[in-house]
Amino acid sequence: MAGVEETLARVPLFSGVKDKDLKRLGKRLTERSFNEGEVITTQGESGLGFFIIEDGNASVSRNDEIVRNLGPGDFFGEVALIDEGPRSATVVATTDLHCRGMTAWEFKPFVEQHPDVAWALLRTLVGRLRESESPAA
Ligand code: CMP
Repeated sequence: MAGVEETLARVPLFSGVKDKDLKRLGKRLTERSFNEGEVITTQGESGLGFFIIEDGNASVSRNDEIVRNLGPGDFFGEVALIDEGPRSATVVATTDLHCRGMTAWEFKPFVEQHPDVAWALLRTLVGRLRESESPAA
């Protein structure tokens, strides 16, 4: 498994973040491991964590339907931290999963200090909006 800095350098969300800032971020992130089948976020419930997947896979479900599968370099948990509302989806570990996590009170200042990260988050959220608005295939 790669070290935290190596992992973060490969995360597209952080592609605009300087090496020294990534190093600092790496030190602040906590390791979070989940067993296969473990529920990490539950749609409609509150939650305080933002997660970056280092190793393993997870599924994202809305209203009991899988909408996305996530793997190394992907992130989840940003929605409830941005609007302080409930989790918008249920995320379940589909393999043993190793993540790096950030709390809500670390996430906001980090995003505020890194406009590139804010922009990348916006692109992700807009992408989801477009997907949800596009006619069904
Ligand atoms: P949050 O709502 O905090 O917790 C559940 C997470 O699932 C959410 O943040 C996003 O990170 C993720 N998520 C929700 N909907 C989608 C989607 N349509 N595609 C990918 N990820 C999603």
